[in-house]
Amino acid sequence: MAAKLINLLAISSLAILACSFGATSANALVTDHNLLARHPAAGHAGLAQRKRQSSSTKRCKPRPTTSSAAAAAVTPTTTTDTTTHTTTSSKQAAASSTPASSQPQAGSGASSGGGSKIGIAWALGDDPSLANFKTGGPLYTWSPYLPTNARELGFNPIPQLWGDKQIGDFTNLVVEGYADTVLGFNEPDQSGQSNMSPQHAADVWKQYIQPLANKGYKLISPACTSAPDSKGWMQQFFAACTGCTFDGLAIHFYGTSAQDLINYITDFHTTFGLPIWVTEFADQNFSGGAQANQGEVDAFMTQATDFMNGQDWVHAYFWFGVMHDMSGVNPDNQLMQGNGQPNALGYQYLGGN
Ligand SMILES: *[C@@H]1O[C@H](CO)[C@@H](O)[C@H](O)[C@H]1NC(C)=O
Repeated sequence: MAAKLINLLAISSLAILACSFGATSANALVTDHNLLARHPAAGHAGLAQRKRQSSSTKRCKPRPTTSSAAAAAVTPTTTTDTTTHTTTSSKQAAASSTPASSQPQAGSGASSGGGSKIGIAWALGDDPSLANFKTGGPLYTWSPYLPTNARELGFNPIPQLWGDKQIGDFTNLVVEGYADTVLGFNEPDQSGQSNMSPQHAADVWKQYIQPLANKGYKLISPACTSAPDSKGWMQQFFAACTGCTFDGLAIHFYGTSAQDLINYITDFHTTFGLPIWVTEFADQNFSGGAQANQGEVDAFMTQATDFMNGQDWVHAYFWFGVMHDMSGVNPDNQLMQGNGQPNALGYQYLGGN
């Protein structure tokens, strides 16, 4: 147990964001093809860029490390925290009381703990700079690990079962009372990420996530990329996941139009009848051309967060990101300065409720 815990903390405390571009995978090539079809005006340079960045599917994940220095920097107290957060607000009641057969079965209602919907996706372990990004909202780490003081800082910390490789750590840590919500797999539709077929994901969900519903957890679905095939993946997953319940649908969005984001998440909400958790989003051009400038990123954030703040069915959102290394995403989306303080966009995000 101790050895396992230390190993987990070593993994999570560094949590260096490393992107996998997957340009040689079949999935990425198929996606490139789809994007090309949708953006026929894109030139040769655009194609090269897409292949480097795996089109709209480029994502980031914590990279495991075995550095003992990293492990030593972490105080392992997370497993003894039995605090529960069960606050719910009436506006966050279950979104779908009569799910159609083609829709997932709604669970007991979703919330991020009743607080703010401004989330923090956090990959810096127990770095003290977390105290500079208090939102009163949810926090997740792309892993089952939760920063030691996240709850003290007012966050509702939420473990994630990122994918197959975290099953051991997840089952050790995520017991009754560890948290009140759990997130499913990270980009299972992407070969460079958790890379799970809908059927396999449903099997893993049934075995490791669904039982948590009876232990007080709200269950948030896997989060696909914003690639064209993600909706089909979700439909197949929900069909395969018989007997599964969901309190929210997680989703990622990268693009340069906030209106596209609004249309995209609205479509997923309408299609699946679940509250939406946007667990990654940013102003990022995967079409091969120029990236947005700072003013455009600021405007994208304003429009997207204004909309999401106004929708009861958006329960949480997490900008990408609060980090030093943006891993290839347009650095104008960064919320953190080198000294760990928010930059101007960071303050805009924190004040966005
Ligand atoms: C993104 O790239 C496309 C394709 O090259 C380009 O047409 C578009 O103007 C770019 N978007 C922004 C916001 O610069």
